[in-house]
Amino acid sequence: MPEQMLDKRRVAESFSRAAATYDRAAALQRSVGSNLLARLPQSFAPRDIIDLGCGTGYFSRALADRCQRPVIGLDLAEGMLRHARQLSPALPGWVAADAEALPLRSSSQDLIFSSLALQWCPDLAQALAEAWRVLRPGGCLAFNTLLDGSLHELRSAWQAVDDFVHVNRFMPLDELQALLAAAGFADWRCQVEQHVLFYSRLGELTQELKSLGAHNLNAGRPAGLTGAARARRLTAAYEAFRSEAGLPATWQVAQVLMFKPAAN
Ligand SMILES: C[S@@+](CC[C@H](N)C(=O)[O-])C[C@H]1O[C@@H](n2cnc3c(N)ncnc32)[C@H](O)[C@@H]1O
Repeated sequence: MPEQMLDKRRVAESFSRAAATYDRAAALQRSVGSNLLARLPQSFAPRDIIDLGCGTGYFSRALADRCQRPVIGLDLAEGMLRHARQLSPALPGWVAADAEALPLRSSSQDLIFSSLALQWCPDLAQALAEAWRVLRPGGCLAFNTLLDGSLHELRSAWQAVDDFVHVNRFMPLDELQALLAAAGFADWRCQVEQHVLFYSRLGELTQELKSLGAHNLNAGRPAGLTGAARARRLTAAYEAFRSEAGLPATWQVAQVLMFKPAAN
């Protein structure tokens, strides 16, 4: 995503600021992360597990319950890690780390679980290479990520207002599949889920994105406050999508399971 120039420091600050509000706004995140967890093969019994981009640690705790093993949570945002530590006194470790440069020994983990974090990596190929390095033979990378088409209504409504990039760009499915195929994992599968959430007012969606820390962080965003006239144009453009259920916001989610070849 070179044109996006997402700055990791700003990503970390934004998620740190959102740590206290994240859980209340994270219904979709819970749902797609739970679906990913349910896709892990029943027979898979990992010993060493990390939750990459763990946020407030909801899935670190769920993984610890499912696998009956300690789980280490890793995240770029110190504020998220502080929050996770408070919520999860029983879990052993919370580590500030970048998915593109993991502070972990090679071949040290059996499961890397990552829910809705890797779309924030400017270089997904590098994150996949790190996962490959850190996994033991037979280990699994289970992640989900957002695809192109997510928040298309908001993107299109902003296009009626100005030419700035207001909505983070997400990878098209064919680009993701090409990266997955090139990452060296023996066995991988990718399934796409579409979720459409409905809101009565546009402000509910934008407030939710802010509470999640997931609002736009592109370098091309305009400085300063959005003026009232611009907000009115945005609202009017979004209204064109209204259905009986309300204002839709579409999310395209890729659910990916990848296994490193077992040792002979
Ligand atoms: C949408 S939240 C998901 C949190 C959690 N996995 C969940 O499902 O509730 C995304 C998380 O990814 C983290 N993140 C973003 N970029 C990252 C990176 N390069 N390395 C590690 N974590 C990252 C953010 O700080 C944030 O906590």
